[in-house]
Amino acid sequence: MNAIDCIKTRRSIRKFEDRPVDRELIASLVETASYAPTWKNTQTTRYIAVTDPQLKAKVAEECVLGYAGNTNIINSAPVLIVTTIVHGRAGFERDGSYSTSKEDRWEVYDAGICAQTFCLAAHDAGLGTVIMGVFDEAKAGQVLDVPEGQIVSALIALGYPAVSPDAPKRKPVEDLLSFR
Ligand SMILES: Cc1cc2nc3c(=O)[nH]c(=O)nc-3n(C[C@H](O)[C@H](O)[C@H](O)COP(=O)(O)O)c2cc1C
Repeated sequence: MNAIDCIKTRRSIRKFEDRPVDRELIASLVETASYAPTWKNTQTTRYIAVTDPQLKAKVAEECVLGYAGNTNIINSAPVLIVTTIVHGRAGFERDGSYSTSKEDRWEVYDAGICAQTFCLAAHDAGLGTVIMGVFDEAKAGQVLDVPEGQIVSALIALGYPAVSPDAPKRKPVEDLLSFR
């Protein structure tokens, strides 16, 4: 698939086939995502692939702030990818001070680029994804035993799509682009 087609035909998928995803395939998606650009090549995004049904169900029940939409997505997906950030490197100087006025927000920026790169790689491989931001960060960190010094960035459902949704409407370029 060429890059433009991959970008334009990727959709958020919220219903999945009851079919597992090979670990080697998940690893290959992470390998592709590792080519995303990051602050001074710090590469602070980490990926936890949750395939254990009981742990996944616990996240679905206890970590989504009661949002049934996300509970259903996680229960439907064979894999839940949890992206985390090694805090305190992207956007920071060696002495621990912030490099810019955006302070530590560059690490979140990097994690977003990594997430989209992962989702595009998944789409190219015939898999579906949806990034989920509605979750309880502290509870997810505890349930998933996220290592000290890392913060949970996003939840990404992963699996073979059972649906093929239309693209939600996009804003016209005139609303998005200005020249100076
Ligand atoms: C940061 C972020 C958080 C999101 N959170 C959720 C979510 O919690 N639940 C959900 O169903 N979709 C979530 N989405 C998916 C968006 O709703 C979706 O990307 C948007 O409607 C555009 O649709 P498309 O991805 O198919 O182009 C999120 C997307 C992003 C980038």
